[in-house]
Amino acid sequence: MSHLLGLARAARLIGVSRAALQQRIKDGNLHAFDGMITTEELLKAYPDLTLEDSGVFERTLKIKEEAFGRRVRERSLPPKEVLAERVFEQSRELGDVKLHLQRYHALVTGLQSEVRDLMERSGPSAREALRHLDGWVEGELRRVLGETEEPDSLALMDDMLRVMSAHVTLRPSQHDFLVEGADSILEAGLKAGLALNYGCSTGNCGLCKARVISGQVMKIRHFDYVFTEAERQQGYTLMCCHSPVDDVTLETLEAGSAQDIPTQQITARVKAVQALDADMRLLHLQTPRSSRLRFLAGQSLTLGLAGAGTAEFVIASCPCDDRNLQFHVERGQGGAFGKMVFDGLRVGDSVSLYGPWGDYLLDDESQRALLFIAFGRGFGPVKSMVEHALAREASERIDLAWAAAPGGHYMVNQCRYWADALDNFRYRSYELLAPDRPAMDRFAARIAEDYPDFANHAVYLAGPSDYLTVARESLAEAGLPPQRMHAIAC
Ligand code: FES
Repeated sequence: MSHLLGLARAARLIGVSRAALQQRIKDGNLHAFDGMITTEELLKAYPDLTLEDSGVFERTLKIKEEAFGRRVRERSLPPKEVLAERVFEQSRELGDVKLHLQRYHALVTGLQSEVRDLMERSGPSAREALRHLDGWVEGELRRVLGETEEPDSLALMDDMLRVMSAHVTLRPSQHDFLVEGADSILEAGLKAGLALNYGCSTGNCGLCKARVISGQVMKIRHFDYVFTEAERQQGYTLMCCHSPVDDVTLETLEAGSAQDIPTQQITARVKAVQALDADMRLLHLQTPRSSRLRFLAGQSLTLGLAGAGTAEFVIASCPCDDRNLQFHVERGQGGAFGKMVFDGLRVGDSVSLYGPWGDYLLDDESQRALLFIAFGRGFGPVKSMVEHALAREASERIDLAWAAAPGGHYMVNQCRYWADALDNFRYRSYELLAPDRPAMDRFAARIAEDYPDFANHAVYLAGPSDYLTVARESLAEAGLPPQRMHAIAC
């Protein structure tokens, strides 16, 4: 008997991205019913599937983990209380199924004895028909009870997965994700690249409140926030302090645009300053545990340092790791603050954060293939958006074109790593030409040649503003519709 699976769970089981499954559904190669897929359909669409193939998924997961920092890397089993509740829930489900089966069996054997009674009391022609019916029921019962069907391996894996993880669906967006390990609902939602509403992450502010529509959640962390009687009665929970016991549906707010993200002021500490090359530094700041930065991929922050003033930088890390913030700072960029990054900033120093700013954001609902074009240090914001796109599984295809001065592809290993590990990711490097029209026309012609279908992509450009202005004109001339171009100056 086939088993129904949600998209996130089906993708997890067979080791492909959700975007890949969505594409198959769109192409008519996989049938979904109300957002659900049967294990039978899944095996039909992937006939060569072996369960070991889930290694592909593990590789993708590893990339996300390495990209998203230590907090995200701390994967473990769910807390034992949550595990016990999940096993209990599954046992209860199994008990219900068993009871139903016993009742059906009693119904069929009762029917059979009714038929036999009727046979005794009927005339010859009806008796013949009833004998035939009795023989059929007897034969079917023997067949059904004696037959040992091949177990549905995907369904078995899914039962196992349901103990290790739980599926969350959000309303009204219908976004969904899995909660694994010791994560709270909030942590898992952020890792899935969703812009959930939250504040402190520690159970004090109440901003991560969500209404439980179906399913059960369990407290995994202490919280001080006090629910009103009305909130309690309506089934509100705090996403930062709870984990799902079984598959749950929650009603909650998500940011739909930059306007939904509040301006925040936080004091962070310098975690590391690392030389990426002679002229580029990676500045790693860490916020306090109870004061994380809520932002969207592609946004920037104003950083301030006592004695060195302030400067604005685009964030180069994923919003799914809201404590560990990275910036790529080029020599000569950011005035006195930038100078301090190269000469004087020490681990542990306090840096004030103010923001976030900017509304050139990744449209992760568009489902178009993504083409990121970075000019020099524009790789910083592109890295944030690529990591976010990977977390969201936003696109079936991600292309990255990075134009830099000779020796200036300062994180080329990161790009190669993505390209080696992900089937849907391609990376090409280019030489950085002058930001003038003839040079950018040549560059746009190369892009049009290397990505023949680029007019159908959503294209994100990032780099110094003198490059962006000219590149937009040249790319439009080469056939890219201007409404598909988004640009982030940095
Ligand atoms: S984010 Fe503040 S209570 Fe959950």
